[in-house]
Amino acid sequence: MIENTSRQVPKEQIARQLDCMEQVSRHNALLPEKPLFFCQTFGCQQNEADTERIAGMLAEMGYVRTEDAQQANVIVVNTCAVREHAEKRVFGIMGQYTHIKDTRSDVIICMCGCMVQQEHITEKIKKSYPRVDIVFGTHMLWHFPELLLQRLNGSKRIFAISGDPKGEIAEGLPVQRDAGCHAWLSIMYGCNNFCTYCIVPYVRGRERSRRPEDIEAELRCLVAEGYKDITLLGQNVNSYGKDLGIGMDFSDLLARLDAVEGEYRLRFMTSHPKDASEKLFATMANGKHISHQLHLPFQSGSDAILKRMNRGYTKESYLALIAKAKEYMPDLVLSSDIIVGFPGETEEDFQGTLDVVRQGQYDVLYTFLYSKRSGTPAASMPDGATPEEKQDRFNRLLKTQEGINQQRQDAYQDRELSVLIDGLSNSKDGIYTHCGRTDGGLLVLVRGDDLHIGDFVDVVIEKTSLRALYGSVLGKGYHG
Ligand code: SAH
Ligand code: SF4
Ligand code: F3S
Repeated sequence: MIENTSRQVPKEQIARQLDCMEQVSRHNALLPEKPLFFCQTFGCQQNEADTERIAGMLAEMGYVRTEDAQQANVIVVNTCAVREHAEKRVFGIMGQYTHIKDTRSDVIICMCGCMVQQEHITEKIKKSYPRVDIVFGTHMLWHFPELLLQRLNGSKRIFAISGDPKGEIAEGLPVQRDAGCHAWLSIMYGCNNFCTYCIVPYVRGRERSRRPEDIEAELRCLVAEGYKDITLLGQNVNSYGKDLGIGMDFSDLLARLDAVEGEYRLRFMTSHPKDASEKLFATMANGKHISHQLHLPFQSGSDAILKRMNRGYTKESYLALIAKAKEYMPDLVLSSDIIVGFPGETEEDFQGTLDVVRQGQYDVLYTFLYSKRSGTPAASMPDGATPEEKQDRFNRLLKTQEGINQQRQDAYQDRELSVLIDGLSNSKDGIYTHCGRTDGGLLVLVRGDDLHIGDFVDVVIEKTSLRALYGSVLGKGYHG
């Protein structure tokens, strides 16, 4: 049996954080007005889910959320390190927020997340951003109440970064989710894959899975609270459970969660092709609540590049995998991530990528220009192509996908689809008043009478564009 390497934060330590929250809350109760907090999140869904935890702790401590940083008493910026562009944006915004101290010196400014987990970044903050009060890394998130209390009690500015990549799992802390019918549900943290271009394993630590009973309990709460579109999160959900040593894999977890009664949809991301299995597709196809949606990033269509990326599959095995997935789910909505301009990528390599795009017939593609991340193996790989060549490949990729997208969207014309209404639309014509998502996650603008957020409706698609489908309501009801 595999050793259970997951580390749960002991109950006493969680209790200590709850106690710190109580102390801050008492402090805030004495203020003439309720203090405000502002959060800004960069990066992926995992970071959004983390911000919801931070917001939950702040709300518990008596702070009220504001969307105006200028008014806030506590500002939290949750950062992303995946590409240079994201890091530049964070530093730009930090300049603005630290200026708020010109007029309100008591505002507490916090930076957290993946970016600050890197030493060269914390050095830069130490030197160039003296007005940032609390910096805490990804492994220290659950310590936030304690850190805030220390700072409120007058401690020097705080740098709380744990370098231990093993990481922990903290259960039982509050969460403040966005209003609406969508919720994130983390099932695991970290990544063990070390794709050679990627910073995530360095800043998020090793893979660790939450216990299935904790995940199921949270799902039951979400369903009871009325959430209808629930996304299971992990950097590589397909390796769920490997560290638990209880003989449960991701498909088993999905099947267990799917058995929870209620009117809701279950999605998950991200899947890694090297660990996605036929068993997973069968579980999806047989599920009652599981959406026929798969985000299966292939990154490159060249075997030489895939090898240098350390992805663990070939173009051929990837294409066979998606063919299998479509066999089980002919209505599958498929999406992928692609990196253009990985070190040493040739025109021929790039043609392989275009070939997968054409064969894969994706509904959605997320395309990125390679960004060098210091400390990763790819950062020291030799590169040949010029920035102009890379940009040209990128543009050709977008153009290829645009044609495919239009065809895929057009194919939905006159089809009947189940849509979950999740918001009001900003469509200028005033006819399509609401928006929603299909089972596969496609955006639909909807017209009909008496529509409410959280309704499942059947629509017939009467118009399509690159961006959205347009449908009118035929009837209401959830079909599991
Ligand atoms: N765990 C997920 C992806 C997380 S990062 C997975 O493996 O699928 C999201 C996407 O960012 C990646 O899929 C990749 O396409 C892109 N990405 C990661 N590092 C990058 C880099 N250094 N430069 C450009 N894109 C990158
Ligand atoms: Fe990064 Fe690869 Fe892990 Fe995804 S699987 S987070 S791309 S190292
Ligand atoms: Fe960015 Fe961290 Fe997510 S680096 S993509 S926020 S895991």
